[in-house]
Amino acid sequence: MKAIRSMHKSLISALAIAMLGMVTLSLAATPSAEPVQKAKINHYIGAAKCKNCHNVAENGAQYDCWTKSKHAEAFKTLGGDEAKKVATEKGIADAQKDEKCLKCHETGFGLAADQFDKKFDKTAGVQCETCHGPGEQHMKARLAAAATEENPDPKVRKKVAEGEIEVPTGPKLCEGCHNKESPSYKTFEYPEFLKKIAHYDPRSDRKDKAPKTKDEEKK
Ligand code: HEC
Ligand code: HEC
Ligand code: HEC
Ligand code: HEC
Repeated sequence: MKAIRSMHKSLISALAIAMLGMVTLSLAATPSAEPVQKAKINHYIGAAKCKNCHNVAENGAQYDCWTKSKHAEAFKTLGGDEAKKVATEKGIADAQKDEKCLKCHETGFGLAADQFDKKFDKTAGVQCETCHGPGEQHMKARLAAAATEENPDPKVRKKVAEGEIEVPTGPKLCEGCHNKESPSYKTFEYPEFLKKIAHYDPRSDRKDKAPKTKDEEKK
């Protein structure tokens, strides 16, 4: 009996919550003159913006590392002969316009247009923010910090607030694209592949913690 009563109670409260929800919904639906507060979007700004601060040779020249990697070519690749062959076999007219290919060959595929800065270049392939997340707020925070810094020493690595910009670890992110759905899939080995796109900053200790490749483990 007790159990039934408490079930009853929870049913009634569930109903009450549902009705409350309906009231708020109908309230929200009434048009109001007050402007709606838009949530602040952390826009995708594009690799060209990251270049302004992340291409210092002594600090690891991350931008140059990336331009030399295949990720920077990922969109262009879809316009090449090999892509055309693959696309034709699948009945795809233009690989550079088809989501079946773009989903792994561009940055922020499938996100709403308002998530991107107006100048964002979608033809620049798999860019920094594919792996590091949108960078607008990080850029703004670093610009503000630099503006108030007295006597900034470029040799000293600056601290970045927790969560300001993502630094991915582990293979999961990569495997979102490096998997068998890729028509040209090559067995993905995280340490080996990571090494090929490495862009460490010699001032940080990330390089020392890098996962060992099979060759390095043998040594
Ligand atoms: C206005 C300069 C500026 C811009 C633009 C900028 N960054 Fe940074 N970034 C910094 C500074 C300063 C640091 C702190 C390390 C250092 O001193 O270099 C940093 C650190 C980082 C880190 C390491 C964070 C950590 O926790 O160790 C990543 C990753 C990063 N930036 C990615 C990006 C990406 C991606 C972009 C472009 C979307 C970008 N940055 C644009 C200045 C900038
Ligand atoms: C958004 C999808 C995507 C993600 C995420 C991604 N990649 Fe890639 N990667 C690609 C594409 C597409 C290519 C091929 C580009 C081309 O050849 O034009 C590629 C190529 C590469 C290559 C060159 C392979 C070769 O054949 O020489 C390496 C190395 C690589 N990626 C490493 C990584 C690592 C490590 C990660 C995770 C930290 C990662 N990738 C995350 C899409 C992705
Ligand atoms: C699931 C993610 C994914 C999808 C979907 C995808 N690709 Fe790729 N593509 C990759 C990755 C990752 C690479 C790098 C090589 C590898 O490991 O597969 C790549 C490499 C390539 C290459 C270079 C070949 C090589 O040997 O490096 C071509 C060409 C290509 N893709 C064409 C296409 C076309 C055309 C489509 C659409 C029909 C497509 N891709 C769909 C992830 C993808
Ligand atoms: C395919 C994914 C991928 C792309 C594209 C990429 N990064 Fe990274 N980046 C990583 C990963 C993974 C790490 C952390 C590596 C580790 O800890 O082993 C990293 C680390 C960094 C760091 C910290 C380096 C250190 O030693 O502390 C900076 C700064 C950075 N990236 C900036 C950039 C910039 C700028 C671009 C574009 C020009 C870029 N990254 C493109 C995956 C990527």
